[in-house]
Amino acid sequence: MDDTGGLDASRELISRDQLAARVTELAGEISADLGGQPLTIAALMTGALIFVADLVRHLPLMTRIHLAGMSSYPGPATTSQGPQVIAPIAEDLHGQNVLIVDDILDSGRTLSVAVEHIRQAGAREVHTCVLLRKPADQRAPDGLADADYVGFDIPNEFVVGYGLDHDDFYRNLPHVAVLEGV
Ligand code: IMP
Ligand code: MG
Repeated sequence: MDDTGGLDASRELISRDQLAARVTELAGEISADLGGQPLTIAALMTGALIFVADLVRHLPLMTRIHLAGMSSYPGPATTSQGPQVIAPIAEDLHGQNVLIVDDILDSGRTLSVAVEHIRQAGAREVHTCVLLRKPADQRAPDGLADADYVGFDIPNEFVVGYGLDHDDFYRNLPHVAVLEGV
């Protein structure tokens, strides 16, 4: 183990410059499509933490930001154990135009549960945005098939960084990396 305590045990997949450029572009697509009315961002915690913070600063719209806590990978698991809303949206979203933001689309189960949760909170329109998307053959029959806005398509590998974790570590890596040996 080096002086990073093991933080370097990963292979860079998307650099911080590539992330910055694509997040700016995505914000442009979102404002072109959803502008003209206030937008409510529902950020799925904790994975969307870094992505959403960068994304909203490129959105020239009246924007509310709400958080929903979701859990699908308890502890060191690298396959989904079934998503749960562990910290529901506290606000009434009645009549609001909501964009759900998450870190990654894999089986689609997390986004499917989140969309249902946001609809039940009263949202009028629900859109979805993910930074990363794994291949379509990863989608489960009960998962959301696709997201409306996608940053990058990636291979079916376990990735960390820029908000994504393994056992709650690695979220602070400024790039996205493939975690070796899990
Ligand atoms: P899904 O429910 O299978 O679509 O998985 C989505 C959730 O699982 C995301 O919100 C992530 O928290 C987590 N996840 C899926 N793939 C990865 C990965 O490669 N690295 C880290 N977390 C992941
Ligand atoms: Mg997550």
